[in-house]
This record gives sequence, C-alpha cells and structure tokens, in this order.
Amino acid sequence: MTYNHIIFEVKDQILHLTINREQKLNALNKALLAELADAISFASTNADVRGILLTGAGEKAFVAGADISEFSSFNAEQGENLAQNGQTTVFDALENCPKPVVAAINGFALGGGLELAMACHIRVASVNARLGLPEVSLGLIPGYGGTQRLTRLVGKGHAFELIVTADMISAERAKEIGLVNHVVAAADLSAKALEILNKIKLRAPLAVASAIVAVNSALDSKVNGFEVEVKEFGKCFNTSDFKEGVSAFLEKRKPVFTGK
Ligand code: COA
Repeated sequence: MTYNHIIFEVKDQILHLTINREQKLNALNKALLAELADAISFASTNADVRGILLTGAGEKAFVAGADISEFSSFNAEQGENLAQNGQTTVFDALENCPKPVVAAINGFALGGGLELAMACHIRVASVNARLGLPEVSLGLIPGYGGTQRLTRLVGKGHAFELIVTADMISAERAKEIGLVNHVVAAADLSAKALEILNKIKLRAPLAVASAIVAVNSALDSKVNGFEVEVKEFGKCFNTSDFKEGVSAFLEKRKPVFTGK
C-alpha cells in the first residue's frame, strides 16, 4: 500500500509512524485510518519490527481528532459504522498489537487523537501537549473507544469530568491523573519514547507479547484476566527465549533473545 498521509520508517527495528496531515493538525480522515490500519497490521506480523513509536507531524498537534468535515452529514447508522470500523481496524488493533506501542504526544491530542494515544501501550507527552475529548461540544460523544479507555486509565470521576466538560488539560495535569506516563521537554520527546522502546527491545519478544495480552485482559470484561495470565505464563515455558533467559541468568551473562 502507498502511504500518503502517514510516514512509515523502520529504524533499528522500531517502526516510526508519523501521522502526516500537518495542515489539518493531523486530523484522522478515512484514507489516513486505512493507512494506519495497514501499517499496524504489517508491524504486528513482521518479525523485524520490535516496537512502534507513534507521533504527529509538526510541532502543533499529535492528532486534533477525527476529520470533522467527513462526518458532518452522517445519520445514526453511518455514525455507528464509522465508530465500529475505526475501533476494529485501528484502535483495537493498536491496543492488541503484540509489539509495544509508545505514543509521543507532541501537541494537541483531542478527540480521536487522544483516543489513538490511549490505545497505545505507553504515553509520553511533551510539556506543551494539550489533551481532551471535546466531542460533546460538537453534539457527539467519543466513538473510537474514548469513553472506555479513558475511564479505565483514570477512573470514572476524572473521565466524567473530562468528557462532559469537554475541557482540554495540560500534559502535567494528564500525568497527575495517570493519563500519560511521562512529561518531557518538546526537544526530548522522541528520545524519551525511544529510550523506553529500546529498553523493551532487550527483553524477550514473546514474553513481551504475552504481557500485552495479559495486561489488556485485566480490563476486558469479556474474559477472566487471571485465566488469561495462567495460559500466557504457561506458553512462555515452551519458548527458546525462556531457556535462554534462565541459562543467561544462571551463567551470569546477558541473554540473547531470538523471539522464538
Ligand atoms: N477535523 C478537521 N479539520 C480540523 C480538525 C478536525 N478535527 N482540527 C483542526 N482542523 C483543521 C482546521 O479546520 C484548519 O483547517 P483550515 O486551515 O483549512 O481552515 C486547520 O486544521 C488548523 O486548525 P485551526 O482550527 O485553524 O487551528 P487553531 O490553532 O485555531 O485551533 C484547535 C486548534 C485544535 C483548538 C482546533 O483546530 C480544534 O478545536 N479542532 C477540533 C478539535 C475537535 O473537536 N476534535 C474532536 C473531533 S471529533
């Protein structure tokens, strides 16, 4: 697939995905979402990709939301389809990606933009980032999982306040309520996100993938997370990386994991 709205670069086994519609503050239109879905699917299955760094082009925005101009005349059925397709192909796919995904939030993360960041496993924000779910000021609610993921991340009280006031909050406030993991100077944003991804790269890839499945299941009401953990724990014992990790520990050397 040719990408027109995202920049796709694999460097040192990390996929750098940059949302690239700077003139529209990187708003998510249909074509862009299809490209993102394709890139996530590639990263999920390609052994050469060990993690994803997701960010927005330019200095102003990570993503300022879904592209409002595309759904201004939608009816209920079209709205439902928009949310369902986006959730399945992009937002859930990102959350369930077996490779760690770090969002580097470089500016506005609003509506679908904050929902995209919340679907990532870890969030790092630059100090100038502004975050919010302003949909009720458009007569809507979040539709790409925002009501669920925000509530899971920060609890009901903060989620209600952010969603029904449509307030934008600072990166520091987002960190206070657990919405982002780290806040750094704008100039240090990519380096901090890469530092995290490079640390994960030293760990056993299949164990990292199992950890993602198990942690995601903690907040999934359709499954018993404890049972999922037992299964994923057991699976790790069948991997070469488990044998290598234990041997390396006993032999007092650094492990060399192969992802097998
Ligand atoms: N959808 C479509 N276009 C968008 C957009 C979105 N979510 N967010 C920004 N844009 C476009 C603007 O229409 C403008 O395009 P134009 O230059 O062709 O007119 C361009 O991006 C720049 O945005 P602008 O509003 O001029 O920048 P600003 O600095 O004055 O304001 C924001 C920045 C983020 C406060 C403002 O753009 C905004 O409120 N965006 C919508 C946020 C939102 O409601 N998101 C949830 C959508 S469900």
